[in-house]
Amino acid sequence: MTEKRTSIHGQWSSRMVFILAATGSAVGLGNIWKFPYMAGENGGGAFVLVYLVCILLIGVPIMMAEILLGRRGRQSPINTMSALAQEAGASPRWAWLGWIGVVAGFLIMSFYSVIAGWALAYVLKAMSGDFVGFTGDSSAAAFVGHIGNPGITTFWHTLFSVMTGYVVARGVKSGLEKAVRILMPALFVLLVLLLGYAINTGYFDRGVAFLFDPDFGKLSREGVLSALGHAFFTLSLGMGAIMVYGSYMPGKASIATTTFTIAFMDTLVALVAGMAIFPIVFANGLEPGAGPGLVFISLPIAFGQMPGGLLFGTLFFVLLTFAAWTSAISIIEPAVAFLVENRGLSRRRATAVVVGLAWALGLLTVMSFGGWGFTFEFAGAQKTDGIFDILDIVTTNFMLPLGGLAIALFAGWVMSSKDTAEELGSGETGLYHVWRVLVRFVAPAGVLLFFLHSLGTF
Ligand code: PHE
Repeated sequence: MTEKRTSIHGQWSSRMVFILAATGSAVGLGNIWKFPYMAGENGGGAFVLVYLVCILLIGVPIMMAEILLGRRGRQSPINTMSALAQEAGASPRWAWLGWIGVVAGFLIMSFYSVIAGWALAYVLKAMSGDFVGFTGDSSAAAFVGHIGNPGITTFWHTLFSVMTGYVVARGVKSGLEKAVRILMPALFVLLVLLLGYAINTGYFDRGVAFLFDPDFGKLSREGVLSALGHAFFTLSLGMGAIMVYGSYMPGKASIATTTFTIAFMDTLVALVAGMAIFPIVFANGLEPGAGPGLVFISLPIAFGQMPGGLLFGTLFFVLLTFAAWTSAISIIEPAVAFLVENRGLSRRRATAVVVGLAWALGLLTVMSFGGWGFTFEFAGAQKTDGIFDILDIVTTNFMLPLGGLAIALFAGWVMSSKDTAEELGSGETGLYHVWRVLVRFVAPAGVLLFFLHSLGTF
Protein backbone atom coordinates (compact mmCIF):
# COMPACT_ATOMS: atom_id res chain seq x y z
CA MET A 1 0.00 0.00 0.00
CA THR A 2 1.31 3.46 -0.89
CA GLU A 3 1.38 6.17 1.72
CA LYS A 4 -1.68 8.40 1.59
CA ARG A 5 -1.09 11.83 0.13
CA THR A 6 -2.92 14.96 1.19
CA SER A 7 -3.69 17.98 -0.95
CA ILE A 8 -2.01 21.27 -0.09
CA HIS A 9 -5.16 23.06 -1.24
CA GLY A 10 -7.45 21.57 1.40
CA GLN A 11 -10.22 18.99 1.38
CA TRP A 12 -14.01 19.01 1.09
CA SER A 13 -15.53 18.73 4.54
CA SER A 14 -17.61 15.69 3.64
CA ARG A 15 -18.67 13.32 0.90
CA MET A 16 -21.87 15.33 0.60
CA VAL A 17 -19.93 18.49 -0.13
CA PHE A 18 -17.92 16.71 -2.80
CA ILE A 19 -21.16 15.58 -4.45
CA LEU A 20 -22.51 19.12 -4.34
CA ALA A 21 -19.35 20.65 -5.73
CA ALA A 22 -19.00 18.07 -8.49
CA THR A 23 -22.69 18.42 -9.33
CA GLY A 24 -22.20 22.18 -9.33
CA SER A 25 -19.42 21.64 -11.83
CA ALA A 26 -21.40 19.27 -14.00
CA VAL A 27 -24.70 21.15 -14.02
CA GLY A 28 -24.20 24.39 -15.88
CA LEU A 29 -24.69 26.07 -19.20
CA GLY A 30 -24.09 22.69 -20.79
CA ASN A 31 -27.38 21.39 -19.44
CA ILE A 32 -29.67 24.35 -19.82
CA TRP A 33 -28.18 26.34 -22.69
CA LYS A 34 -26.20 23.88 -24.75
CA PHE A 35 -28.08 20.59 -24.53
CA PRO A 36 -31.38 21.98 -25.85
CA TYR A 37 -29.84 23.81 -28.77
CA MET A 38 -27.62 20.89 -29.73
CA ALA A 39 -30.58 18.53 -29.58
CA GLY A 40 -32.46 21.07 -31.69
CA GLU A 41 -29.72 21.39 -34.29
CA ASN A 42 -29.33 17.64 -34.56
CA GLY A 43 -32.96 16.76 -35.01
CA GLY A 44 -33.86 15.70 -31.46
CA GLY A 45 -34.49 12.10 -30.44
CA ALA A 46 -31.64 10.27 -32.14
CA PHE A 47 -29.13 12.77 -30.78
CA VAL A 48 -30.59 12.44 -27.28
CA LEU A 49 -30.41 8.66 -27.44
CA VAL A 50 -26.77 8.65 -28.53
CA TYR A 51 -26.01 11.21 -25.82
CA LEU A 52 -27.66 9.05 -23.13
CA VAL A 53 -25.74 5.97 -24.24
CA CYS A 54 -22.51 7.98 -24.13
CA ILE A 55 -23.26 9.17 -20.59
CA LEU A 56 -23.94 5.68 -19.32
CA LEU A 57 -21.31 3.58 -21.06
CA ILE A 58 -18.52 6.11 -21.52
CA GLY A 59 -19.13 9.07 -19.21
CA VAL A 60 -19.88 7.22 -15.98
CA PRO A 61 -16.90 4.84 -16.05
CA ILE A 62 -14.56 7.65 -17.08
CA MET A 63 -15.88 9.89 -14.32
CA MET A 64 -15.09 7.16 -11.81
CA ALA A 65 -11.61 6.86 -13.30
CA GLU A 66 -11.04 10.59 -13.21
CA ILE A 67 -12.11 10.93 -9.56
CA LEU A 68 -9.99 7.92 -8.68
CA LEU A 69 -6.87 9.40 -10.29
CA GLY A 70 -7.44 12.73 -8.58
CA ARG A 71 -7.97 11.28 -5.15
CA ARG A 72 -4.92 9.08 -5.43
CA GLY A 73 -2.68 11.84 -6.80
CA ARG A 74 -3.99 14.67 -4.60
CA GLN A 75 -2.44 17.39 -6.75
CA SER A 76 -3.24 19.46 -9.81
CA PRO A 77 -3.92 17.16 -12.79
CA ILE A 78 -0.45 17.76 -14.26
CA ASN A 79 1.36 16.75 -11.09
CA THR A 80 -1.13 14.01 -10.29
CA MET A 81 -0.48 12.40 -13.64
CA SER A 82 3.29 12.54 -13.27
CA ALA A 83 3.13 11.17 -9.74
CA LEU A 84 0.81 8.31 -10.69
CA ALA A 85 2.80 7.53 -13.84
CA GLN A 86 5.93 7.27 -11.75
CA GLU A 87 4.17 5.11 -9.20
CA ALA A 88 3.05 2.75 -11.97
CA GLY A 89 6.48 2.76 -13.63
CA ALA A 90 5.01 4.39 -16.75
CA SER A 91 6.30 7.19 -18.98
CA PRO A 92 6.42 10.68 -17.42
CA ARG A 93 4.76 11.86 -20.62
CA TRP A 94 1.40 11.08 -19.04
CA ALA A 95 1.70 14.54 -17.50
CA TRP A 96 0.70 15.80 -20.94
CA LEU A 97 -2.78 14.71 -20.13
CA GLY A 98 -2.81 17.35 -17.43
CA TRP A 99 -1.36 19.98 -19.76
CA ILE A 100 -3.94 19.38 -22.43
CA GLY A 101 -6.59 19.71 -19.74
CA VAL A 102 -5.22 23.06 -18.64
CA VAL A 103 -5.26 24.35 -22.21
CA ALA A 104 -8.78 23.01 -22.73
CA GLY A 105 -9.79 24.77 -19.51
CA PHE A 106 -8.56 28.12 -20.84
CA LEU A 107 -10.32 27.68 -24.14
CA ILE A 108 -13.60 26.57 -22.51
CA MET A 109 -13.52 29.30 -19.89
CA SER A 110 -13.01 31.89 -22.61
CA PHE A 111 -16.36 31.23 -24.25
CA TYR A 112 -18.15 29.98 -21.16
CA SER A 113 -17.90 33.31 -19.40
CA VAL A 114 -19.17 35.18 -22.45
CA ILE A 115 -22.31 33.04 -22.54
CA ALA A 116 -22.67 33.27 -18.75
CA GLY A 117 -22.43 37.03 -19.32
CA TRP A 118 -25.50 36.80 -21.56
CA ALA A 119 -27.32 35.12 -18.66
CA LEU A 120 -26.24 37.87 -16.29
CA ALA A 121 -27.47 40.54 -18.68
CA TYR A 122 -30.78 38.73 -19.00
CA VAL A 123 -31.29 39.00 -15.24
CA LEU A 124 -31.52 42.75 -15.66
CA LYS A 125 -33.74 42.47 -18.72
CA ALA A 126 -36.11 40.11 -16.91
CA MET A 127 -36.25 42.40 -13.91
CA SER A 128 -37.08 45.48 -15.94
CA GLY A 129 -40.00 43.79 -17.66
CA ASP A 130 -38.40 43.64 -21.11
CA PHE A 131 -39.99 40.28 -21.85
CA VAL A 132 -43.60 41.42 -21.49
CA GLY A 133 -45.44 40.93 -24.77
CA PHE A 134 -42.54 39.12 -26.44
CA THR A 135 -43.40 37.12 -29.56
CA GLY A 136 -41.08 34.71 -31.35
CA ASP A 137 -39.90 37.49 -33.63
CA SER A 138 -39.43 40.23 -31.08
CA SER A 139 -37.64 37.92 -28.66
CA ALA A 140 -35.26 36.80 -31.40
CA ALA A 141 -34.64 40.40 -32.44
CA ALA A 142 -33.89 41.43 -28.86
CA PHE A 143 -31.42 38.58 -28.48
CA VAL A 144 -29.63 39.28 -31.74
CA GLY A 145 -29.44 42.93 -30.78
CA HIS A 146 -27.93 42.06 -27.42
CA ILE A 147 -25.20 39.67 -28.56
CA GLY A 148 -24.42 41.88 -31.54
CA ASN A 149 -23.22 44.65 -29.25
CA PRO A 150 -19.65 43.82 -28.23
CA GLY A 151 -19.35 46.71 -25.78
CA ILE A 152 -22.24 45.42 -23.72
CA THR A 153 -21.38 41.72 -23.91
CA THR A 154 -17.77 42.50 -22.95
CA PHE A 155 -19.02 44.29 -19.86
CA TRP A 156 -21.00 41.24 -18.69
CA HIS A 157 -18.22 38.86 -19.69
CA THR A 158 -15.86 40.91 -17.52
CA LEU A 159 -18.25 40.87 -14.59
CA PHE A 160 -18.66 37.12 -14.76
CA SER A 161 -14.89 36.61 -15.03
CA VAL A 162 -14.37 38.69 -11.91
CA MET A 163 -17.09 36.79 -10.03
CA THR A 164 -15.42 33.49 -10.91
CA GLY A 165 -11.99 34.77 -9.95
CA TYR A 166 -13.31 36.04 -6.64
CA VAL A 167 -14.53 32.64 -5.53
CA VAL A 168 -11.52 30.72 -6.78
CA ALA A 169 -9.11 33.17 -5.14
CA ARG A 170 -10.80 32.67 -1.78
CA GLY A 171 -10.53 28.95 -2.01
CA VAL A 172 -13.44 26.77 -2.83
CA LYS A 173 -14.38 25.91 0.69
CA SER A 174 -15.60 29.15 2.19
CA GLY A 175 -17.75 30.54 -0.60
CA LEU A 176 -18.99 27.95 -2.93
CA GLU A 177 -19.91 25.07 -0.71
CA LYS A 178 -22.59 27.12 0.94
CA ALA A 179 -24.00 28.65 -2.20
CA VAL A 180 -24.31 25.39 -4.09
CA ARG A 181 -26.25 23.77 -1.29
CA ILE A 182 -29.18 26.16 -1.72
CA LEU A 183 -28.90 27.17 -5.33
CA MET A 184 -28.83 23.89 -7.14
CA PRO A 185 -32.13 22.67 -5.65
CA ALA A 186 -33.68 26.09 -6.32
CA LEU A 187 -32.68 25.91 -9.96
CA PHE A 188 -34.29 22.53 -10.26
CA VAL A 189 -37.54 23.73 -8.71
CA LEU A 190 -37.65 26.59 -11.18
CA LEU A 191 -37.09 24.26 -14.11
CA VAL A 192 -39.96 22.10 -12.94
CA LEU A 193 -42.12 25.20 -12.75
CA LEU A 194 -41.21 26.04 -16.35
CA LEU A 195 -42.02 22.46 -17.23
CA GLY A 196 -45.49 23.06 -15.77
CA TYR A 197 -45.87 26.07 -18.02
CA ALA A 198 -44.68 24.09 -21.03
CA ILE A 199 -47.23 21.35 -20.36
CA ASN A 200 -49.96 23.97 -20.68
CA THR A 201 -48.79 25.37 -24.00
CA GLY A 202 -50.66 22.63 -25.82
CA TYR A 203 -47.44 21.64 -27.55
CA PHE A 204 -46.02 19.44 -24.82
CA ASP A 205 -46.52 16.21 -26.74
CA ARG A 206 -44.80 17.63 -29.76
CA GLY A 207 -41.87 18.83 -27.65
CA VAL A 208 -41.49 15.49 -25.94
CA ALA A 209 -41.79 13.62 -29.23
CA PHE A 210 -39.10 15.82 -30.72
CA LEU A 211 -36.81 15.04 -27.81
CA PHE A 212 -37.45 11.34 -27.48
CA ASP A 213 -38.55 9.88 -30.84
CA PRO A 214 -35.32 8.82 -32.49
CA ASP A 215 -35.10 9.49 -36.22
CA PHE A 216 -31.62 8.43 -37.21
CA GLY A 217 -32.04 9.92 -40.64
CA LYS A 218 -31.74 13.33 -39.03
CA LEU A 219 -28.51 12.58 -37.21
CA SER A 220 -25.47 13.72 -39.18
CA ARG A 221 -21.91 12.52 -38.69
CA GLU A 222 -21.28 15.76 -36.91
CA GLY A 223 -24.27 15.09 -34.68
CA VAL A 224 -22.84 11.80 -33.48
CA LEU A 225 -19.51 13.35 -32.59
CA SER A 226 -21.28 16.25 -30.89
CA ALA A 227 -23.32 13.85 -28.76
CA LEU A 228 -20.13 12.16 -27.59
CA GLY A 229 -18.39 15.48 -26.99
CA HIS A 230 -21.37 16.84 -25.14
CA ALA A 231 -21.46 13.84 -22.82
CA PHE A 232 -17.93 14.83 -21.75
CA PHE A 233 -18.70 18.53 -21.60
CA THR A 234 -21.82 18.17 -19.53
CA LEU A 235 -20.15 15.85 -17.01
CA SER A 236 -17.07 18.13 -16.88
CA LEU A 237 -14.89 15.21 -18.00
CA GLY A 238 -11.63 14.87 -19.82
CA MET A 239 -9.84 18.06 -18.80
CA GLY A 240 -8.99 17.63 -15.13
CA ALA A 241 -11.87 19.53 -13.50
CA ILE A 242 -13.32 16.41 -11.94
CA MET A 243 -9.81 15.12 -11.26
CA VAL A 244 -8.88 18.20 -9.27
CA TYR A 245 -12.19 18.07 -7.39
CA GLY A 246 -11.46 14.41 -6.70
CA SER A 247 -8.11 15.42 -5.22
CA TYR A 248 -10.00 17.31 -2.51
CA MET A 249 -12.28 14.35 -1.77
CA PRO A 250 -12.22 12.66 1.61
CA GLY A 251 -10.56 9.26 1.47
CA LYS A 252 -13.44 7.13 2.63
CA ALA A 253 -16.24 8.22 0.31
CA SER A 254 -17.49 5.76 -2.30
CA ILE A 255 -16.55 6.86 -5.79
CA ALA A 256 -19.19 4.72 -7.50
CA THR A 257 -22.13 6.08 -5.51
CA THR A 258 -21.04 9.68 -5.87
CA THR A 259 -20.53 9.28 -9.61
CA PHE A 260 -24.00 7.83 -10.12
CA THR A 261 -25.54 10.65 -8.14
CA ILE A 262 -23.73 13.32 -10.13
CA ALA A 263 -24.45 11.76 -13.52
CA PHE A 264 -28.11 11.20 -12.63
CA MET A 265 -28.69 14.77 -11.50
CA ASP A 266 -26.85 16.18 -14.49
CA THR A 267 -28.91 14.16 -16.94
CA LEU A 268 -32.16 14.95 -15.16
CA VAL A 269 -31.54 18.69 -15.35
CA ALA A 270 -30.73 18.51 -19.07
CA LEU A 271 -33.82 16.44 -19.89
CA VAL A 272 -36.15 18.64 -17.82
CA ALA A 273 -34.67 21.72 -19.48
CA GLY A 274 -35.33 20.18 -22.89
CA MET A 275 -38.88 19.22 -21.99
CA ALA A 276 -39.53 22.75 -20.74
CA ILE A 277 -38.03 24.48 -23.76
CA PHE A 278 -39.21 22.60 -26.85
CA PRO A 279 -42.97 22.97 -26.24
CA ILE A 280 -42.38 26.72 -25.93
CA VAL A 281 -40.32 26.65 -29.12
CA PHE A 282 -43.08 24.92 -31.08
CA ALA A 283 -45.91 26.93 -29.54
CA ASN A 284 -44.27 30.13 -30.73
CA GLY A 285 -43.25 29.05 -34.18
CA LEU A 286 -39.53 29.10 -33.38
CA GLU A 287 -36.89 26.99 -35.09
CA PRO A 288 -35.57 24.14 -32.87
CA GLY A 289 -32.30 24.40 -34.80
CA ALA A 290 -31.87 28.07 -33.95
CA GLY A 291 -28.47 27.51 -32.35
CA PRO A 292 -26.95 29.16 -29.28
CA GLY A 293 -29.82 31.64 -28.95
CA LEU A 294 -32.47 28.96 -28.40
CA VAL A 295 -32.89 29.27 -24.62
CA PHE A 296 -32.43 33.03 -24.61
CA ILE A 297 -35.14 33.44 -27.23
CA SER A 298 -37.69 30.83 -26.18
CA LEU A 299 -37.86 31.22 -22.41
CA PRO A 300 -38.32 35.01 -22.33
CA ILE A 301 -41.50 34.54 -24.38
CA ALA A 302 -42.84 32.28 -21.65
CA PHE A 303 -41.80 34.67 -18.89
CA GLY A 304 -43.40 37.55 -20.75
CA GLN A 305 -46.75 35.78 -20.75
CA MET A 306 -47.06 33.92 -17.47
CA PRO A 307 -48.42 35.44 -14.28
CA GLY A 308 -45.50 36.29 -12.02
CA GLY A 309 -43.24 36.18 -15.07
CA LEU A 310 -41.20 39.12 -13.87
CA LEU A 311 -40.24 37.31 -10.69
CA PHE A 312 -39.77 33.88 -12.25
CA GLY A 313 -37.85 35.24 -15.21
CA THR A 314 -35.47 37.10 -12.94
CA LEU A 315 -35.05 34.09 -10.70
CA PHE A 316 -34.43 31.81 -13.63
CA PHE A 317 -31.58 33.86 -15.05
CA VAL A 318 -30.11 34.38 -11.58
CA LEU A 319 -30.04 30.64 -11.08
CA LEU A 320 -28.68 30.02 -14.56
CA THR A 321 -25.88 32.41 -13.69
CA PHE A 322 -25.22 30.49 -10.49
CA ALA A 323 -25.18 27.18 -12.33
CA ALA A 324 -22.63 28.65 -14.73
CA TRP A 325 -20.65 30.11 -11.83
CA THR A 326 -20.26 26.81 -10.00
CA SER A 327 -19.08 25.26 -13.27
CA ALA A 328 -16.69 28.05 -14.21
CA ILE A 329 -14.72 27.75 -10.98
CA SER A 330 -14.07 24.10 -11.73
CA ILE A 331 -12.97 24.93 -15.27
CA ILE A 332 -10.09 27.11 -14.06
CA GLU A 333 -9.24 25.25 -10.84
CA PRO A 334 -6.79 22.79 -12.50
CA ALA A 335 -4.69 25.66 -13.91
CA VAL A 336 -4.82 27.61 -10.66
CA ALA A 337 -3.81 24.60 -8.56
CA PHE A 338 -0.91 23.98 -10.93
CA LEU A 339 0.41 27.56 -10.71
CA VAL A 340 0.22 27.40 -6.92
CA GLU A 341 2.05 24.08 -6.78
CA ASN A 342 4.75 24.62 -9.38
CA ARG A 343 5.26 28.34 -9.70
CA GLY A 344 4.88 29.15 -6.04
CA LEU A 345 2.22 31.78 -6.76
CA SER A 346 -0.28 32.70 -4.10
CA ARG A 347 -3.79 31.49 -4.86
CA ARG A 348 -4.92 35.05 -5.54
CA ARG A 349 -2.16 35.76 -7.97
CA ALA A 350 -2.56 32.43 -9.76
CA THR A 351 -6.28 33.11 -10.14
CA ALA A 352 -5.63 36.59 -11.52
CA VAL A 353 -3.27 35.20 -14.15
CA VAL A 354 -5.67 32.47 -15.26
CA VAL A 355 -8.78 34.62 -15.29
CA GLY A 356 -6.95 37.44 -17.08
CA LEU A 357 -5.75 35.19 -19.89
CA ALA A 358 -9.12 33.49 -20.32
CA TRP A 359 -10.83 36.88 -20.29
CA ALA A 360 -8.63 38.18 -23.10
CA LEU A 361 -9.23 35.06 -25.14
CA GLY A 362 -12.95 35.49 -24.48
CA LEU A 363 -12.97 38.64 -26.59
CA LEU A 364 -12.75 36.37 -29.62
CA THR A 365 -16.07 34.84 -28.65
CA VAL A 366 -17.54 38.25 -27.96
CA MET A 367 -16.56 39.26 -31.49
CA SER A 368 -17.79 36.01 -33.02
CA PHE A 369 -21.29 37.19 -32.21
CA GLY A 370 -20.42 40.87 -32.53
CA GLY A 371 -19.56 41.12 -36.19
CA TRP A 372 -16.71 38.73 -36.88
CA GLY A 373 -18.85 35.64 -37.32
CA PHE A 374 -18.15 33.52 -40.40
CA THR A 375 -19.51 30.34 -41.83
CA PHE A 376 -17.70 27.08 -42.38
CA GLU A 377 -18.44 23.43 -42.77
CA PHE A 378 -17.53 20.78 -40.23
CA ALA A 379 -18.17 17.06 -40.76
CA GLY A 380 -20.98 17.91 -43.10
CA ALA A 381 -22.68 20.54 -40.89
CA GLN A 382 -22.89 24.30 -41.47
CA LYS A 383 -21.39 26.37 -38.66
CA THR A 384 -22.17 30.07 -38.56
CA ASP A 385 -20.52 31.53 -35.48
CA GLY A 386 -16.89 31.61 -36.54
CA ILE A 387 -14.27 31.45 -33.84
CA PHE A 388 -16.77 30.54 -31.14
CA ASP A 389 -17.74 27.44 -33.11
CA ILE A 390 -14.08 26.55 -33.64
CA LEU A 391 -13.29 26.85 -29.92
CA ASP A 392 -16.35 24.82 -29.08
CA ILE A 393 -15.59 22.07 -31.61
CA VAL A 394 -11.90 21.83 -30.75
CA THR A 395 -12.53 21.53 -27.01
CA THR A 396 -15.84 19.68 -26.79
CA ASN A 397 -15.53 17.36 -29.76
CA PHE A 398 -11.80 16.66 -29.65
CA MET A 399 -9.89 17.66 -26.52
CA LEU A 400 -12.39 16.35 -23.97
CA PRO A 401 -13.03 12.95 -25.59
CA LEU A 402 -9.30 12.48 -26.19
CA GLY A 403 -8.54 13.48 -22.60
CA GLY A 404 -11.21 11.07 -21.44
CA LEU A 405 -9.76 8.33 -23.62
CA ALA A 406 -6.34 8.86 -22.06
CA ILE A 407 -7.84 8.78 -18.57
CA ALA A 408 -9.61 5.51 -19.34
CA LEU A 409 -6.45 3.97 -20.77
CA PHE A 410 -4.38 5.07 -17.79
CA ALA A 411 -6.83 3.80 -15.18
CA GLY A 412 -7.63 0.63 -17.09
CA TRP A 413 -4.27 -0.43 -18.49
CA VAL A 414 -1.46 1.46 -16.80
CA MET A 415 -2.52 1.35 -13.16
CA SER A 416 -2.56 -2.04 -11.52
CA SER A 417 -5.93 -3.56 -10.75
CA LYS A 418 -4.81 -3.81 -7.15
CA ASP A 419 -4.45 -0.03 -6.98
CA THR A 420 -7.69 0.82 -8.72
CA ALA A 421 -9.61 -1.73 -6.66
CA GLU A 422 -8.15 -0.28 -3.49
CA GLU A 423 -9.12 3.24 -4.51
CA LEU A 424 -12.64 2.28 -5.55
CA GLY A 425 -12.91 0.36 -2.30
CA SER A 426 -14.86 -2.36 -4.03
CA GLY A 427 -12.32 -5.17 -4.14
CA GLU A 428 -13.59 -8.16 -5.99
CA THR A 429 -17.24 -7.16 -6.24
CA GLY A 430 -19.16 -7.52 -9.47
CA LEU A 431 -19.45 -3.77 -9.85
CA TYR A 432 -15.69 -3.42 -9.91
CA HIS A 433 -15.40 -5.91 -12.75
CA VAL A 434 -18.11 -4.17 -14.72
CA TRP A 435 -16.27 -0.87 -14.28
CA ARG A 436 -13.00 -2.42 -15.34
CA VAL A 437 -14.45 -3.86 -18.53
CA LEU A 438 -16.09 -0.54 -19.34
CA VAL A 439 -12.99 1.51 -18.70
CA ARG A 440 -10.57 -0.88 -20.43
CA PHE A 441 -12.60 -1.81 -23.50
CA VAL A 442 -16.01 -0.23 -23.91
CA ALA A 443 -15.20 3.43 -23.26
CA PRO A 444 -11.98 3.55 -25.33
CA ALA A 445 -13.55 1.62 -28.19
CA GLY A 446 -16.62 3.86 -28.02
CA VAL A 447 -14.57 7.04 -28.28
CA LEU A 448 -12.54 5.67 -31.18
CA LEU A 449 -15.60 4.42 -33.06
CA PHE A 450 -17.29 7.78 -32.73
CA PHE A 451 -14.21 9.53 -34.05
CA LEU A 452 -13.92 7.19 -37.01
CA HIS A 453 -17.59 7.61 -37.74
CA SER A 454 -17.38 11.38 -37.77
CA LEU A 455 -14.36 11.27 -40.05
CA GLY A 456 -16.62 9.51 -42.48
CA THR A 457 -14.82 6.17 -42.28
CA PHE A 458 -18.12 4.33 -42.04
N1 PHE B 1 -20.14 20.69 -17.14
C1 PHE B 1 -20.23 22.09 -17.36
C2 PHE B 1 -21.58 22.39 -17.98
O1 PHE B 1 -22.29 21.49 -18.38
C3 PHE B 1 -19.13 22.65 -18.19
C4 PHE B 1 -17.75 22.17 -17.84
C5 PHE B 1 -16.95 21.59 -18.81
C6 PHE B 1 -17.25 22.30 -16.55
C7 PHE B 1 -15.69 21.13 -18.51
C8 PHE B 1 -15.99 21.83 -16.23
C9 PHE B 1 -15.22 21.25 -17.21
O2 PHE B 1 -21.93 23.52 -18.14
